[in-house]
Amino acid sequence: MSPPGDVARRHEGSPARDAAKPKLGSYRRHLLVCTGPRCTQNGESQALFDSLGDTFKAAGLDQGELRVKRTRVSCFAACKGGPVVCVQPDGVWYYNATPDNMRRIVDQHLVGGEPVEDLIFHRGPGLATNGGEGAPTGG
Ligand code: FES
Repeated sequence: MSPPGDVARRHEGSPARDAAKPKLGSYRRHLLVCTGPRCTQNGESQALFDSLGDTFKAAGLDQGELRVKRTRVSCFAACKGGPVVCVQPDGVWYYNATPDNMRRIVDQHLVGGEPVEDLIFHRGPGLATNGGEGAPTGG
């Protein structure tokens, strides 16, 4: 017995044929924020994420050349010292992103382009400007 028409058509051609193609606005950096349960115990990571819309707007990071896209993730497998955030494509991973420290990250890194060294717990893969593991060797 043959499958119903809809099922048979799904096996012909591209599997994404009926899917709506997503769109993203352009951005300079992508800030990933872990809001999983092990980085912080009392919702500090979610509160940080929730504050970023206003923070980015105040810093001029919500649009234009320096626009930062923000995304929640459920776990980076780092799981302590949170809030934990990652700035891509720079490959810079920050811990202890308290409100005060996040202001430093915003002002110095996301606006100024210079990573906040004392808050970094990992690098890579990243771009040449920060010395990350994925940095081109030049020459
Ligand atoms: S819960 Fe945040 S890195 Fe695992």
